[in-house]
Amino acid sequence: MAELLNGLKRTHYAGLLREEHIDQKVVLMGWVQKRRNLGGLLFVDLRDREGIAQIVFDTAVSQEAFDLADPIRGEYVIAVEGTVKLRQSINNDIPTGKVEVFAESIKILSESEVPPIHINDDDGAGEQLRLKYRYLDLRKPKMYNNLLFRSKVASVFRNFFGGEGFLEVETPFLNKPTPEGARDYLVPSRVNPNKFYALPQSPQLFKQMLMVSGIDRYYQIVKCFRDEDLRADRQPEFTQVDVELSFVEEKDVMSINERLMQKMFKEMLDVDLPTPFMTMAYKEAMERFGSDKPDLRFGYELKALNDIAETCGFGVFADTVKAGNDVRAINIDGGAIEFSKKGMKNLEKFAKTYGAKGMAWMKITEEGLDSPIAKFLSEEDVKNITERMEAKVGDMILFIADKPSVVFATLGALRCEIAKKLDKIAEGDYKILWVNEFPLFEYSEEEDRYVAKHHPFTSPLDADMDMIESDPANARAKAYDLVLNGSEIGGGSIRIHNSELQSRMFKALGFTEEEANSKFGFLLDAFKYGVPPHGGIAYGLDRVVMELLNIDNIRDVIAFPKTQQATCLLTNAPAPAEEAQLEELFLDLVIPKKEEKVD
Ligand code: AMO
Ligand code: AMP
Repeated sequence: MAELLNGLKRTHYAGLLREEHIDQKVVLMGWVQKRRNLGGLLFVDLRDREGIAQIVFDTAVSQEAFDLADPIRGEYVIAVEGTVKLRQSINNDIPTGKVEVFAESIKILSESEVPPIHINDDDGAGEQLRLKYRYLDLRKPKMYNNLLFRSKVASVFRNFFGGEGFLEVETPFLNKPTPEGARDYLVPSRVNPNKFYALPQSPQLFKQMLMVSGIDRYYQIVKCFRDEDLRADRQPEFTQVDVELSFVEEKDVMSINERLMQKMFKEMLDVDLPTPFMTMAYKEAMERFGSDKPDLRFGYELKALNDIAETCGFGVFADTVKAGNDVRAINIDGGAIEFSKKGMKNLEKFAKTYGAKGMAWMKITEEGLDSPIAKFLSEEDVKNITERMEAKVGDMILFIADKPSVVFATLGALRCEIAKKLDKIAEGDYKILWVNEFPLFEYSEEEDRYVAKHHPFTSPLDADMDMIESDPANARAKAYDLVLNGSEIGGGSIRIHNSELQSRMFKALGFTEEEANSKFGFLLDAFKYGVPPHGGIAYGLDRVVMELLNIDNIRDVIAFPKTQQATCLLTNAPAPAEEAQLEELFLDLVIPKKEEKVD
C-alpha cells in the first residue's frame, strides 16, 4: 500500500497553518492522530512535529480522496493535498483551530499497527513502556519540545563561545584509565591484548594540555561516561559543555560565564538575570542550607544549637554534642498546622533515608508546645531553642542530631522536600549563585586516604597553600560550582600550572612518585615545557535543560536515556558478547553463563 512521493513536496507544517493561509493550496505530510467518519465527511487530525491540523475529506470535493482516506487509522503516515479554509466550528484550544484543509487528494505513505502507547502528552504510559517504545514517545509534543529546547540551548552555548573566540576542539574517547573520580567504563583493546581504554569521565586532562598547546580558549559539547550510582539527575552517559581558558583567574572565569548565563536566560526564557551573581563560600552554604548546592528560592535555613543542646535535658542531644557531633534545626514558618501525625511520621521516615537516627520536632501552637521531646526539656531549654530559631506561634522546628555530614544532608533535604510539599516555590523563580572555596580534599573512609574533592588538578587557595600537608582537612580550593535552583549545573576550577605543586598534590593524595608518574606522567611532562595559568568549567547540558524547563527527571531531556540500572530498554543494551568477540579480545568471563551453571 505504501506509495512513493513521486515528486510530491510538502509545502507547510500542519501545525503551523493559520488564518493567513486561507484559500492557499497546501501539501501536508504527517501522522494520523485521529480519524472520525461522519458519513460523507471524514475528519482527520494530521500531526507533524509542529502540531495538528484538521483535514476534511468531503465526498463533494473528491469522492476518490474520500474513498482512499476511509481505511486510514491512527499513526498511518499520509500526504494530503488540499485547500485551507476558515473552519466552521472554531477550536480555540489549538493554534491551528481557526482553519481546516479540504483534501483533494491523499497518499498513504505507510500504515501503522495499533501503537502500544498513545501519542498524547497525558497518555499515562509508565516509563518502562515509554523507554521501550522511545521513538513513539518522542512523537509526543512535550518530548519534542524538550528536544527542541535542548537543541536551542546547545546553540546558545555554541554561539556564545564561538563569538568569544573559543575553539571547538574534539578530544578522544578511548583513553587511559585514571584511578580518580567515579568508576570508569572500560573498553578492551583487541590489538593490544590485555590492555584497556577508558571512556572519558570528562576531557579534563586533554583540555589542560590544549592550554599547554596555546589554544588559549577551548570549548566542546561532549559526551562523558561515569559508572556511578544513578539518581534522578544523573545518567551513566551525559553531556558536558566543557570549557577552558588560559591566563585567567577565578573571577575572570566567573564573569565570562555570567555573561553566558545572562544570554542563555534572555534567549531561552526572556528572563533578565542581574550580574554579578551571588557568591557563597562552601562552608556558609553547608551551615545555612545543609548543601553545597543551596536552593535559595525559599528560607528554612539551618541553625546550630550545639551550645543549647549540650546542657539541655534531652539525652540524645546532649550526648551528641559531647561526642563532638552536631545538633542543628530548621524552622518551618507556619508549619505547625500543615503536617498531621501521619505527616510527621512520613517526614521522619524521609529523614531516615538520609542516615538520620530520628527527627525530633516541636510545634508551637496556640495551646502550647506539641513535641515528642517536650517532656525532656526545661522551660529555659524551650525558650533558648525558640529564640535561636526565631520561632513563633504556628511554626514547626525540626531537629537532627548526628555527625555533621548526616545533619547537613538530612536537614538540607528536608528543607527542599517541605518547600515542595507546601508549594513554597514560585513558578518562574530562578535563583542562581556561585558556590566557591570548596575543600581541596575530602576524606574517603572507603580508601582510608584523602581524595580530591573536585579533581587532583585543582589549585589550592593562595592563602591555604601551606596547608596541603599540615592541615589537608581544612585546605580550600580555587573551585567553584554554578548552582541554579538547588541543582549543580556546572563546576570548575583554576588549575595547578606548576609541576612541583602538582607533585605535592599527588603526594598528598597518597600516590608515590612512581604511581603519579605512571598515571599522570604525561601531564607532569607537559607541565615542564611552559604552561600558562589556566582554569575552566564544565556545564552539565542535561541539567541546564532540566532546570530551565523545570523538569525533575533527567531522562525527559535526553532522546535515548538509560534506566537507573544503566540499561537501554529500547535496544536492550548492555547485552552478552559473542564468544568469538571475547576470544578476539582475550577475555574470559568469570561469572558462569546461565546454561553452564551447576547447581
Ligand atoms: P564535574 O564532575 O563537576 O566537573 O562535572 C561537570 C558537570 O557535569 C554534570 N554532571 C552530570 N550530569 C548528568 N549525569 C551525571 N552523571 C553527571 N555528572 C556530572 C553536572 C556537573 O556540574 N572536569 C570537571 C570540570 C572542570 O573542572 O572544568 C568536571 O567534570 O552538572
Ligand atoms: P526517643 O526518646 O528515642 O523516642 O526520641 C524522641 C524523639 O527524638 C523522636 O521524635 C525521635 O525521632 C527523635 N530523635 C531520636 N534520635 C534523634 C536524633 N539523632 N536526631 C534528632 N532527633 C532524634
